[in-house]
Amino acid sequence: MSHPCSRREFLAVAAALLTACDQQPRHAPLPDWMLTPDDAADPELWRDAQLIADLLVRHREIRREVAHRSTGVRATTTSPAADLAERLRLHAERMRQRLVRGAPIRQADPLFAALFAHHRDLHLEVTPVPGGVQVVETSADPVAVMLLRQHAVHAVSEFVSGGVARARRPTPLPPGYPS
Ligand code: HEM
Repeated sequence: MSHPCSRREFLAVAAALLTACDQQPRHAPLPDWMLTPDDAADPELWRDAQLIADLLVRHREIRREVAHRSTGVRATTTSPAADLAERLRLHAERMRQRLVRGAPIRQADPLFAALFAHHRDLHLEVTPVPGGVQVVETSADPVAVMLLRQHAVHAVSEFVSGGVARARRPTPLPPGYPS
């Protein structure tokens, strides 16, 4: 499916939207690396980016808990707003599908680059729960488990607490990650 505007135009619109809606001080435009790769190579980027922008703008309405297991994590993400709860379910399922087919996003962020490089080692089970979604993420590979934990705690949970301002910063690889 072709898009109504180029990725650069989309980023300008997204930046204006986020600046208008977020209650933080005014933000600079979103950096290109927040989305990557370009829309010609990824026809679903536009659709997924719009949903991600919604979640970031409404981050104060989202709650999240992460429980660690030996083989990964179990994360529960909810919102009292029914429409947002449904958006959370949709985002988690779309990201699961991206991992299954190896269709990367946010590739200039080192953690997301490493996650998608390991996409064949990751298993995600996405379950709707009242108010949102529960995701059990596991791997038989201990290095991939390090990435799952780092993503759950230092990417998604920080996006929930910090919104757009946090999403503008990259996510470090986990301490001890083999170079
Ligand atoms: C407030 C903002 C966000 C929320 C609430 C959110 C929520 C979630 C949830 C619930 C999952 C399932 C895994 C888990 O629960 O740990 C997930 C996975 C994922 N999200 Fe988001 N997300 C947000 C922002 C973003 C952004 C900014 C990106 C990238 C541009 C992104 C990309 C991904 C990817 C690639 C996955 C699959 C990787 C994995 O689970 O290991 N998310 N997100």
